[in-house]
Amino acid sequence: MAERWYKRAVIYSVEVDAFQDSNGDGVGDLRGLISRLDYIAGLGATYIWLNPIHPTPGKDDGYDGTDYYQVDPRLGTLGDFVDLIDAANDRGLRVMLDLVINHTSDQHPWFQASRRSRDSSLRDWYVWSDEEPAHKDEGAAFPGEQHGTWTKDRRAKAWYFHRFYDFEPSLNHANPAVWDEIRRIVTFWLHLGVAGFRMDAAPFSIEHPDPRTGSASRDYDRLRDIRRWLSWTQGDAIVLAEANVPDDEILRYVSSGHDNDDRLHVLFNFRLNARIALALARRDVRPIVWALDTAPQLPENAQWATFIRNHDEEDLSQLTDEERDEVFAAFAPEESMRLYGRGIRRRLAPMLGGDRRWLELAYSLQFTLPGTPILRYGQEIGMGEDLRLKQRDAIRTPMQWSDAINAGFSTAPADRLIRPVIAEGDFDYRRINVAAQRRDESSLLLWMSRLLRTLRECPEIGDSSCDVLETGIPSVLMHRFTGPHGAMLFLHNVADIPRTVDVTRALTAEDAPSESFADDDYGALPQPLVTLPINGYGYRWIRLRFVP
Ligand code: BGC
Ligand code: MG
Repeated sequence: MAERWYKRAVIYSVEVDAFQDSNGDGVGDLRGLISRLDYIAGLGATYIWLNPIHPTPGKDDGYDGTDYYQVDPRLGTLGDFVDLIDAANDRGLRVMLDLVINHTSDQHPWFQASRRSRDSSLRDWYVWSDEEPAHKDEGAAFPGEQHGTWTKDRRAKAWYFHRFYDFEPSLNHANPAVWDEIRRIVTFWLHLGVAGFRMDAAPFSIEHPDPRTGSASRDYDRLRDIRRWLSWTQGDAIVLAEANVPDDEILRYVSSGHDNDDRLHVLFNFRLNARIALALARRDVRPIVWALDTAPQLPENAQWATFIRNHDEEDLSQLTDEERDEVFAAFAPEESMRLYGRGIRRRLAPMLGGDRRWLELAYSLQFTLPGTPILRYGQEIGMGEDLRLKQRDAIRTPMQWSDAINAGFSTAPADRLIRPVIAEGDFDYRRINVAAQRRDESSLLLWMSRLLRTLRECPEIGDSSCDVLETGIPSVLMHRFTGPHGAMLFLHNVADIPRTVDVTRALTAEDAPSESFADDDYGALPQPLVTLPINGYGYRWIRLRFVP
């Protein structure tokens, strides 16, 4: 049943330029991705999210685009894109694109025209101020890497607004002509067959900054417009919004109020993401319990997307200074591992010291918390980061396919690769790669595909109500989903000390428990079921009810 398919999806996030190069130029491309679709489908993912694929000077890894209607020539052509959609759909996979409408590259022809002349019809497509803005040094999204949010353009003889880098001028979201163009962009890609978009920087993409006061107002009804264009063009397409905003604002991205679901469909769960990091650092699940107990209540058709790491820094800005310091101390002890004063530029496997049991626990936890899970390429094999690369590039190194030259990513000379392959230390591609893990029954890769297969038989996680049950043990989370498809019980122990959990309060008389996935062979479930043992860093998935 395709209805609300996104509540049962497993998202796989791919950086096309770092995934698979098909033509030996050192840059991953669409044909390379096509050749790896069986791998992604085989893993158990259903929905592929591509980071930006448009032409770009590449100063922000493609988030600085110069043409919304084209594919970066290094990645392929529009024809290749259509082939990708066909090949993906053949395998039951859907494709999602990044939609970056907050800004363009300063090299975009629109900006070039806008700065050239006050008389240009594109002048008002960007945000200009003739006077020096009062708060020009405030509001930077990348503190330490970016100076302020207004920059003087000598050519235009005016100041332009940029929420991100100065080479990413913000579009003027108060201009209806800009929204007309956005509608065209969205419709264009829907017609080419995408199943939705990740809306980059959603809060900033609907705001109108005021150069005099330094404040910005947000026009949430624009989100409803996007929703409408989607419904008219392709009814089941969705938007996943990147909105790392406070609790009292978040619901506005999905609903205009009164429980309407008339805005966007899915929200990255940043509030939960930061609390997972804190819980792992503390070996105490209470931050997660708090995040679940206090979660803003989404309207019925809206959804959370759960993630443990993404293509950016691990963003801890929602934590208090003390909490953030605890997470830094545990997972980013060196200054070079931190970024923008708020985040961690590492992948999960090295953050957890390569500890296989701890990694499994972390992923099991993420994938069973309410929402649609996202897996980023390379997580399934436990890839590491390269801290010599600048900023977030550290976690964007090429996929490690095998122990062949350049990890099987490309046949180009190593110095021509888009980014270097990790070739030393514990995460060296000769140790960590897909081919080796495929041969190894006990590998993380095969474990992950088992997890995903089991997960897909647990639609409750994406689509039913979740209750957190008291265990009296700070390191153990017990949560239960009950819905029309059945019921599931999950136990997770975030500390490395075995425990025994009283599960009686989680069970009802109609339940018929059986174990579907666990970190260990715990043997047959005791009858009657009163307590269950759980290993240090253990996890147990117990099916309570199944509705055929
Ligand atoms: C993306 C970043 C990007 C920024 C500017 C973010 O929210 O996730 O990777 O640098 O937007 O487009
Ligand atoms: Mg290539």
